Amino acid sequence: MNLKEQIDPKRIPLHVAIIMDGNGRWAKQKGESRIMGHISGVESVRESLTAATELGVKHLTLYAFSTENWNRPKEEVDALMNLLVNTIAQEIASLSENGVRLKAIGDIDNLPESCKAALFKAIDQTSNNTTIELILALSYSSRWEIVNATRKIAEMVKKGTLDPASISEDTIHQHLTTKGIPDPELLIRTSGEKRISNFLLWQCAYTEFYFTKTLWPDFKKEHFYEAIAAYQQRERRFGMVSEQLNSDAH
Ligand code: IPE
Ligand code: IPE
Ligand code: MG
Repeated sequence: MNLKEQIDPKRIPLHVAIIMDGNGRWAKQKGESRIMGHISGVESVRESLTAATELGVKHLTLYAFSTENWNRPKEEVDALMNLLVNTIAQEIASLSENGVRLKAIGDIDNLPESCKAALFKAIDQTSNNTTIELILALSYSSRWEIVNATRKIAEMVKKGTLDPASISEDTIHQHLTTKGIPDPELLIRTSGEKRISNFLLWQCAYTEFYFTKTLWPDFKKEHFYEAIAAYQQRERRFGMVSEQLNSDAH
């Protein structure tokens, strides 16, 4: 039985998030430039998106560029931005064909104009698709997002439109860039690092983490299935005890 057949179609996570890490090390192992590593990583994005779509995942969030990644050498940042523009331009037709709705989270205003233009065009052209939502985290960091949300909420209190006593978890959710998106049930990080690197801190309160040593450019459909199969072995207790859980629950 192959891996895909081991997956229970009734317990597919609605939202999977991925920290796509290890492009630089992959390239170094091959004696190539870090940029070649990023270029090779694009194929893994296609693989994961296809696997997620086929399994019925409804939201796939990919950490493509963090706020902290702006501190990398300018040459690498520029190459990543160019790769983003070119990839979006190349993929737009296939995204549409496959029912993918594109979305971006993060400090999008901070991206170069060419990136914003490519991104907004693709978001607009795919906005009516409903099979799966592909969420790119770009210039994203969770602390940046939480600070921003706090500022917006504070403004409402200042204007008198919000009573501090009525602030709830939902108030915070409504002001995050992930507004309206369910929390990820599964977070995958490739390359062997076991950290969250400022990604979806609020949203991952009860997310299952799956770490793999596979470097991102080597991460293919089979690896995605493996992560889903591992997720399905977990018991998600949400603070309760095992006996309280319905055996059919996720
Ligand atoms: C992930 O790969 C891609 C981005 C962060 C943009 P890295 O570039 O971090 O690769 P390593 O971690 O140096 O191997
Ligand atoms: C996290 O990877 C960010 C992305 C994958 C976009 P990094 O390579 O930047 O994270 P650290 O520096 O190892 O924590
Ligand atoms: Mg890295």
